[in-house]
Amino acid sequence: MTVYALGNFVPEIADSAYIHPQASVIGNVKIGERVFVAPHASIRGDRGRIEIDDESNVQDGVIIHSDDVFVTRVGKRVNIGHNATIHSESIGDYAGIGIGAVLMVGSKVAEGVLIANSAMLHPKTKTEPYKIYAGVPAKYLRDFEKDEPARIALNRYLDWYVENTFRYRSLSVVQS
Ligand SMILES: CC(C)(COP(=O)(O)OP(=O)(O)OC[C@H]1O[C@@H](n2cnc3c(N)ncnc32)[C@H](O)[C@@H]1OP(=O)(O)O)[C@@H](O)C(=O)NCCC(=O)NCCS
Repeated sequence: MTVYALGNFVPEIADSAYIHPQASVIGNVKIGERVFVAPHASIRGDRGRIEIDDESNVQDGVIIHSDDVFVTRVGKRVNIGHNATIHSESIGDYAGIGIGAVLMVGSKVAEGVLIANSAMLHPKTKTEPYKIYAGVPAKYLRDFEKDEPARIALNRYLDWYVENTFRYRSLSVVQS
């Protein structure tokens, strides 16, 4: 597991979380219960603190980098899609971050918001709970309904990654 202390900062990782060996977690980072961190994700708490709450997932190629003027908080049951870049201050509970989205320094994502695939969220953009923001720069697209296909899919991803925190414990190298 590539988890690195940096000076006095030692990542705090719940026993039930799973960090893939090819992911990297550095420094002032706290990772909650049943969080899944996929290969090639980088969670780098070298400027400030990063906290990821229970049952969230950080998919392949995601970058989360800290800042020295705020704590980067990722809520519970947040799905962070492949290759997203997270430099935000906060991501509320039950939010979804689409594939390749960029959350710029200091941006804030409200509870249950969906940031669309490839969107770029500017810190001046105020997000409101349970709405979808899309585009570059990201703008309000529409409400994020409870029973719509995108939300049902999001919940499926979340459950699947929680399951993977158990399943991946039997991961083994067959060739290298
Ligand atoms: C935002 C999202 C939910 C829209 O899905 P949808 O409702 O099926 O969207 P539609 O295909 O009906 O498109 C609705 C409109 O939004 C636009 N749109 C859809 N996705 C967009 C995106 N990512 N960026 C910009 N515009 C987008 C469409 O072009 C369309 O515009 P129009 O009305 O002018 O034709 C979907 O594109 C998305 O980003 N989902 C995120 C998925 C996710 O969580 N990924 C991580 C998986 S691990």
